[in-house]
Amino acid sequence: MEKIRLALLSGGISSEREVSLNSGTQVFEALDKDKYEITRYDPKIDLPKLVMDASNIDAALIILHGPFGEDGTVQGLLDLLDIPYQGAGVLGSAVAMNKLVAKRLYDGAKVPTPTYLSFSMNDRINIPEVVGSLGLPLVVKPACAGSSVGMTIVKLQEDLESAITLGFEHDDTLILESYIKGVELTCGVLGNETLEALPVIEIIPGDSHEYFDYEAKYVAGETEEICPARIDEPTRLKVQGLAILAHQSLFLKGYSRTDMILKDGELSVLETNTIPGMTATSLFPQSAQEGGYSFSALLDKLIQWAIEENKRTNLRRAR
Ligand SMILES: Nc1ncnc2c1ncn2[C@@H]1O[C@H](COP(=O)(O)OP(=O)(O)O)[C@@H](O)[C@H]1O
Ligand SMILES: [Mg+2]
Repeated sequence: MEKIRLALLSGGISSEREVSLNSGTQVFEALDKDKYEITRYDPKIDLPKLVMDASNIDAALIILHGPFGEDGTVQGLLDLLDIPYQGAGVLGSAVAMNKLVAKRLYDGAKVPTPTYLSFSMNDRINIPEVVGSLGLPLVVKPACAGSSVGMTIVKLQEDLESAITLGFEHDDTLILESYIKGVELTCGVLGNETLEALPVIEIIPGDSHEYFDYEAKYVAGETEEICPARIDEPTRLKVQGLAILAHQSLFLKGYSRTDMILKDGELSVLETNTIPGMTATSLFPQSAQEGGYSFSALLDKLIQWAIEENKRTNLRRAR
């Protein structure tokens, strides 16, 4: 059988560049070299080469996180070049990247999320009013960022202003939402036509972390991850159902991973990641493993669905 000519995209220009390069290397190592002829591209420098090579590429794996990678921009370029790629298309990638738009779509699908307010850079923000409506602590997050970059958990009203200033250094739109103290869970969804929810993971950031911050996410040993999560059967089913509902509400494809908080038996969805971390020990590959898919089998599935999905996208081309 001829090998699939695969473009592996990692690096890029978002603040998650290093994470992406690391994931890219681990994905490269896990891919079956008997099945794939792999060329690596770093969108920071290699976009012209990618365009030139397009007619000799059978599929791409986008291992990029954050803006200019996970947000539909790279997906749009690949659509134009008619290169199949894994996971969400332009629409799903764009709406999931924007936490404000995602919240509106979650609302429409009755996916519960923390109470929130949103502000753009030119809005006048009445601090006491915000605190009155959301309570304390509250969370300030840039609408389009990932890996907890630019985020603050604000406990005191006098700290809100500087948290807002920091948030606006990362995006022109912010979400301010009620802080929910509970058990943090994340649940992967896998599939193209029929969706399967993977085993739920419980995330316990170490004592030195107030929440699942950048270091808790990426420094080995800083966070305990328990899979399957220590939750009862009805809660597990609820979490998995909600992960599937969140995936569908944002028009996603292939796979996703939804972060949630469980408090007093109630679930709140924080966000859905369309290109979850992809090192062998990242959350999504871990739960896929628990669900019976090795890291390389998971990659095979994603590539197979990418090629199938591309046929559907192609229906929109004029004949
Ligand atoms: N409303 C909230 N209540 C409690 N913790 C939160 C809340 N929002 C975010 N967090 C914490 O911050 C982390 C990152 O937030 P999240 O919305 O998942 O953004 P991202 O992972 O894209 O940076 C979460 O994993 C959680 O630990
Ligand atoms: Mg998250």
